[in-house]
Amino acid sequence: MSLRLGVLVSGSGSNLQSIIDSSEKGFIKSKVCVVISNVPGVYALERAKKHNIPAIVINHKDFSTREDFDKAIVNKLKEFNIDLVIMAGFLRIITNVLLDAYPMKILNIHPALLPSFPGLHVQKKALDYGCKFAGCTVHFADSGVDTGPIIIQGIVPVLDNDTEETLSKRILSVEHKIYPQAIKLYEENRLKIIGRRVIIEPPLSPEESVFLTNPLVEV
Ligand code: GRF
Repeated sequence: MSLRLGVLVSGSGSNLQSIIDSSEKGFIKSKVCVVISNVPGVYALERAKKHNIPAIVINHKDFSTREDFDKAIVNKLKEFNIDLVIMAGFLRIITNVLLDAYPMKILNIHPALLPSFPGLHVQKKALDYGCKFAGCTVHFADSGVDTGPIIIQGIVPVLDNDTEETLSKRILSVEHKIYPQAIKLYEENRLKIIGRRVIIEPPLSPEESVFLTNPLVEV
């Protein structure tokens, strides 16, 4: 099914770009119909304009409560008849005003393997902790911070000479692959939420499951 996507951004918008590209190539049937940023002047807005997608600023600083800000977001999403809301580098905590308007119709991407490292600066946290793997997660949004049911995760190794920048870049390149895939599964109506678990129907074939070790297991 082709859905009308509304993408919420706060920054560079490289995930937005991967979704626009996936749509233009036909990997996903859905179309980005509006991009809303809570921060004026960010590059994500330019990316939208280059593809003739309406690019709108709703500055959270113009609102006295989170709920009032979310109400303005909901009004704009409704104006564009949005079916599915995509948070792509959207650095705001959302309230029930938005969640209730789009129940289980809001996706978020997070640059860590949840439930490890919710919140901010998580690539650095994974590096400082000494993790051998890091990664990213697409999940349904709920009222917590990075807590909703998980749709898909991508894993990358942490290398000995990594910095926060190199690790973030490696994770971001996987984000660009898993977000379009999650949207594809959603638009094909293949996601069934059972409690915290998101089941994919029909199931993926066994060869689509992988396991990784870092360092390599030699046996
Ligand atoms: C991504 O790592 C995303 O997961 C995080 O912020 C970054 C935004 O990147 N929440 P972009 O704006 O999509 O380039």
